[in-house]
Amino acid sequence: MQSSTPDPVAVIGASGALGFGLTIRLARAGVPIVIGSRDAARAQETAQRAAALVPDGSFGGHDNAGAVREAGTVILSVPFRNQSETLTNLREALAPGQLLIDATVPLAAAVSGKATRMLGVWQGSAAQQAQEMVPEGVRVVSALHTVSAASLADLEHPLTQDVLVCGDSRADKREAAGVIELIDGLRCVDCGRLEMARTTEALTALLISVNSRYKAHAGIRLTSLPDSLWA
Ligand SMILES: NC(=O)c1ccc[n+]([C@@H]2O[C@H](COP(=O)([O-])OP(=O)(O)OC[C@H]3O[C@@H](n4cnc5c(N)ncnc54)[C@H](OP(=O)(O)O)[C@@H]3O)[C@@H](O)[C@H]2O)c1
Repeated sequence: MQSSTPDPVAVIGASGALGFGLTIRLARAGVPIVIGSRDAARAQETAQRAAALVPDGSFGGHDNAGAVREAGTVILSVPFRNQSETLTNLREALAPGQLLIDATVPLAAAVSGKATRMLGVWQGSAAQQAQEMVPEGVRVVSALHTVSAASLADLEHPLTQDVLVCGDSRADKREAAGVIELIDGLRCVDCGRLEMARTTEALTALLISVNSRYKAHAGIRLTSLPDSLWA
């Protein structure tokens, strides 16, 4: 049977730590990546940096709006203080039917506070803020908060961890899991509705605290779950 190429994924914030790690891991899994940046030249430069690490990968680079227009799935990986500005700027580019995977964590560090403290978000979580800001018909799923950028960026580092996925539609979560699980070693777990993102986002602060104590890049692994999580 001929294996088909996965659909392209746009990564907004791919020049940053988490976005770049996701970019090279997904590209290594055969996913064509459209890199988005506020600056198209930085997107091109990031594409070159990624291609040097994953020579077989497929990388394009555009400004954020251009990247979003080229993919059905968009990963949003920007600091919390820039999430709303980024989504405002993408309002014309995002289209109904697109899937937005939001990885934003409302850490106090985003406003010069501690990375181990969470900011209160009026809507409940960064993901719910994203849901409120995207055009109608754009499907928002929350994921990837507990995966460390450093682990992703080290392609020699085996990943064996869970990705906690929240969203109001089981089908959307399954679709997001289908993309994320292309990365070897990541298992997606359905954690419930989007409002549960308030809890999963907060786990990043916990992991930063743990990792600073043990000088590690620990992730999360849930135990005693069934073998098949998305049937
Ligand atoms: N780092 C991790 O291990 C990790 C793990 C889980 C979740 N997260 C969350 O994922 C998100 C991204 O984290 P990160 O560590 O990758 O962040 P980062 O490296 O600081 O920034 C990511 C990208 O955001 C873009 N950006 C958009 N507006 C910006 C502005 N006004 N100022 C600065 N950058 C801006 C930049 O891309 P352009 O300049 O190209 O536009 C930047 O490269 C955050 O919400 C974070 O809490 C991070």
